[in-house]
Amino acid sequence: MKFQVPHAMLPLPTHDEDARQSFLLTMREQVMGPLWQGSRATYEKKLRGNFERAQGRAPKDRREVQALLDADPYYQTFSAIHRTTQEMLWDEVGDSIQRQLPKLIDTAKTTVAKKKTLGSLQLNAKLPMPRYIEEVDIHVMPGNFQTELTKDDVYAGALYDRGVFIYGMGRRGPYGQGMGEDSVRFLKQTYPDFRPRKILEVGCSVGHSLLAYADGFPQAEVHGIDVGAPMLRYAHARAESLGKTVHYSQQDACAMDFADGSFDLVMSHLLLHEMPVKQIRRMYAEIARVLRKGGAMFEGDTVNMRSPELIDRTLGDWYGHYNNEPFQLKAGEMDFPAEARAVGLTPDMTVYDARGTHIAFKR
Ligand SMILES: C[S@@+](CC[C@H](N)C(=O)[O-])C[C@H]1O[C@@H](n2cnc3c(N)ncnc32)[C@H](O)[C@@H]1O
Repeated sequence: MKFQVPHAMLPLPTHDEDARQSFLLTMREQVMGPLWQGSRATYEKKLRGNFERAQGRAPKDRREVQALLDADPYYQTFSAIHRTTQEMLWDEVGDSIQRQLPKLIDTAKTTVAKKKTLGSLQLNAKLPMPRYIEEVDIHVMPGNFQTELTKDDVYAGALYDRGVFIYGMGRRGPYGQGMGEDSVRFLKQTYPDFRPRKILEVGCSVGHSLLAYADGFPQAEVHGIDVGAPMLRYAHARAESLGKTVHYSQQDACAMDFADGSFDLVMSHLLLHEMPVKQIRRMYAEIARVLRKGGAMFEGDTVNMRSPELIDRTLGDWYGHYNNEPFQLKAGEMDFPAEARAVGLTPDMTVYDARGTHIAFKR
C-alpha cells in the first residue's frame, strides 16, 4: 500500500482494513490504466470505424460518442467495474472510520478547546446549505461533504482524507498536497514578484491543497472556507497536528462574510467541476469582490475542456454520467475567461493540459 503520512486525525486501518484498502487502490490503478485505455482502444479500433461506415461521416460530438460507448460491452464492463470500485472504496473506508470515530471526534474537540492554537476555526450552524450540496452525494461519497450524524462530527472529513488518498492512488503525495504544490509552483514561476499577504481557498475541504500554500507562501495569512462543518473540524485539527497555521471558517463561496478587497490571492482546487453554472457565476462575482485591486484569482481543476480528442473528452464525461458528478458536464463547457471578464477580472494565463485546467485572473 502506498503510504499516507499519519497525523492526529487520520483514520488508521487495521491489518485487514489495510489489505482491503490496498486491493481497492490497485483496482483504481487497473480502472484508470488498462481498462480506461481499453475503452479508448475499443472506440478507436472498432466503434468509430463502424459508425463511419454506417453514417458516412465521423461522430460529431460527445453525445454521439457516448451513445456508441454505452452500447459496447467493453465500455459497459469498464463502467460497471469503475462504479463498483468507487462504491466499495467508500464502504470500506467508511467502516474503518466508524470503528474509530469517537476517538477522532475527541481529538478534534481537544484541538478546539486548546487555549492557544496556531490557526482558528469558526463554524456557522445557521449557514443555509446550497441545494446542490444537499441533493447530490458528489462522487458517490455517502453523506457528501456536509452531513452530520452525531455531535461534533468529523466523519465526512475523515472519509474524504482517507478515501481520496486511495481514489488518487497515492499519486497526490503523502499529504494529498500534490495539486496545491503544482499550483504554487505555477504561480511562482508565472508571477515571480507576486507576494500575497492574505490568501483564501474557497471549497478547501480538509486542506490538502491549502497546506501547500501555507508552506509555499510562509509570510501570508492563510484562510480556507467550506460549507461542510465536519470537513472544517477535521481540517482544523489536521492542520494543527501538522504544525500549520490556517484559519478555517464555514461559509458559502457564493455569499462570503469577508469585507471587500480582503485578499491578495483567492483560489480553488477541484471545486468548479462540482458546482452548477449558476453558482459558479455567483462565486466568481464574490471572489472579484473580496479580491483587492492588483490581486489574483487562481483555479486548478480537472475540467478538461480543451482536450483535443473527442474520445478523451467523452471518456472524461464518465464522472458526470456515472459517478454522481452531474455538474461537471456543464461546467466543462463554460468559458471561464469570459466568465471572469464579466465580473471585472482580467484573464491572464490559461493553461489546459493533460491534468486539467489552470487559470489565473487579475483584478
Ligand atoms: C473536491 S472538494 C475540494 C478539494 C480541495 N479544494 C482540495 O484541493 O483538496 C470540494 C469542496 O468544496 C466544498 N464546496 C462546494 N460548494 C461550496 C460553496 N458554495 N462554498 C464553499 N464550499 C463549497 C465542498 O463542501 C467540498 O468540501
